[in-house]
Amino acid sequence: MRQNIVAGNWKMNKTLQEGVALASELNKILATKTLNCGVVIGVPAIHITEVVKAVDAKKIGVAAQNCANKESGAYTGEISAAMVKSTGAAYVILGHSERREYYGETNQTLKEKTDLALANGLTPIFCIGEVLKEREANKQNQVVKTQIEEALFHLSADAFAKIVLAYEPVWAIGTGKVASPEQAQEIHAYIRSVVANKYGNDVANNTSILYGGSCKPSNAKELFAKADVDGGLIGGAALNAEDFVGIIDAF
Ligand code: PGA
Repeated sequence: MRQNIVAGNWKMNKTLQEGVALASELNKILATKTLNCGVVIGVPAIHITEVVKAVDAKKIGVAAQNCANKESGAYTGEISAAMVKSTGAAYVILGHSERREYYGETNQTLKEKTDLALANGLTPIFCIGEVLKEREANKQNQVVKTQIEEALFHLSADAFAKIVLAYEPVWAIGTGKVASPEQAQEIHAYIRSVVANKYGNDVANNTSILYGGSCKPSNAKELFAKADVDGGLIGGAALNAEDFVGIIDAF
């Protein structure tokens, strides 16, 4: 059966020292707990090596927030999937709406990134979600379906089974405007049906689908109680240990 996961996305926050301090604090708190979900922290790429050393890998997985769509070579400033893997990260967040919006990532480049992530043994946390205008036009289902189809449906069932999906309505990210548990459940169930139509019920039922967008300790329990919500991708509330642990405790 699929795994419940609470994943943090620190975005472009925290210096190296601050990041290691947060990871160490989190590690200390989680050491005292029995966890009912997987925990991942998505940290800036240059923090990964040190953060990996600061946490117990049995309890906390480390994610990069991006990787390149090229294997290696003359791509100044880029970080390859092989490099990410070599730092000790086990996951990579791909297709976050901020990457799509500000850095021009398309379903085609994300397809290439996904292939390289998988080829290098990383678990992609693959983000999908509609913007407000699309939600208002009731096009959210079509939007997420196209994102999945164009970036992921070339994969074999075995390869797809390694993907974690994160549904993040763009209108809920960093806005304080969380999707209602009913809205989340409705679209998560739809996403699972899209996966089932392509890969069958076994793969669909084993795919973790996380919710992201203004998830906090105060709303996580209701969201995670929904049948098709398998955890969260957490931005703002992942930046301090108490809030992040409050969300982990929702399971
Ligand atoms: P937020 O961000 O929790 O701050 O809304 C979520 C995300 O962008 O992953």
